Formats: sequence, C-alpha cells, structure tokens
Amino acid sequence: MTLPSVHAHLRAAADAARAHAWAPYSHFPVGAALETEDGRVFAGCNVENASYPAGTCAERVALGTAIAAGARRFVRVVITSQQQDPTPPCGICRQALVEFAPALEVFAVAPDGRTARWSLAELLPAPFTPASLENV
Ligand code: THU
Repeated sequence: MTLPSVHAHLRAAADAARAHAWAPYSHFPVGAALETEDGRVFAGCNVENASYPAGTCAERVALGTAIAAGARRFVRVVITSQQQDPTPPCGICRQALVEFAPALEVFAVAPDGRTARWSLAELLPAPFTPASLENV
C-alpha cells in the first residue's frame, strides 16, 4: 500500500526529523511523526550514543517531545527510514506508545513510498498498561 495522501504531512515531518538523526554507529537513520487527536504533529529522530544502550529511537524522541508539550492523546505515527522495506517500531517503542495510545495507527514508509500499516494492538498483543498496575 501507499500512505493515504491525507497523511503526507506526517511523512514529511518524519523525513525532516530523520535528516537530523544522530546515527553514526548503526548508519540507520529513522524519523517518526506522531499525530495528536487534535491534529498536532510531533517529530523525532533516533539519537545514538557512543555508549550504545544509551541511544534512543525516533519514536520515543517524538513521544517525549509531545508529552513535554502537554500532548497526551495520539491517533497515528508515521515512521520513515532508508531501508528498502518499511521499518516497524521496536519492542521498547511499542511499549512506550501503548501507555498513551493503545489504539494507535502505525504506518512505516520506505523511501519508494511502499507503506506498511498496523494497529499498535496488532504489534503489541496483551500489552502491559497502566491498568495492569491496578490493585497492586
Ligand atoms: N530505531 C529507531 O529509531 N526506530 C525503530 O523503529 C527501529 C530502530 C533506531 C535505533 C538505532 O539507532 C537504529 O535505529 C538501529 O537499530
């Protein structure tokens, strides 16, 4: 599939952020654009570190930026990379996103426009959420 044209601005935002990715170790720059329920867009790129585990994915940078701006409710994320195949979000990012948006729509777009689409519920079945902490 291709990304519905109504979401083209999200791909552009993800690409713009990806241009600033700090990925000197993996050479795998990623961009992500997260859209809020009221149409605001927050973008992020991966930020790697010489201490490899200290690096952060594009999706969590976008999420943190959105949360810091006061956003809490999200409808979709668009992820772009330079890989031939669309890049799905990693497991840690799935977990980070489900905290705020269990019904998130996830698009991954390859440079040639080929697009994969999932629901976050599909990508992360049986999630651990704030409700999981009830009755502790
Ligand atoms: N990465 C992301 O930023 N998002 C993903 O969805 C997959 C992986 C980053 C982490 C690391 O900087 C590089 O891509 C290679 O794993």
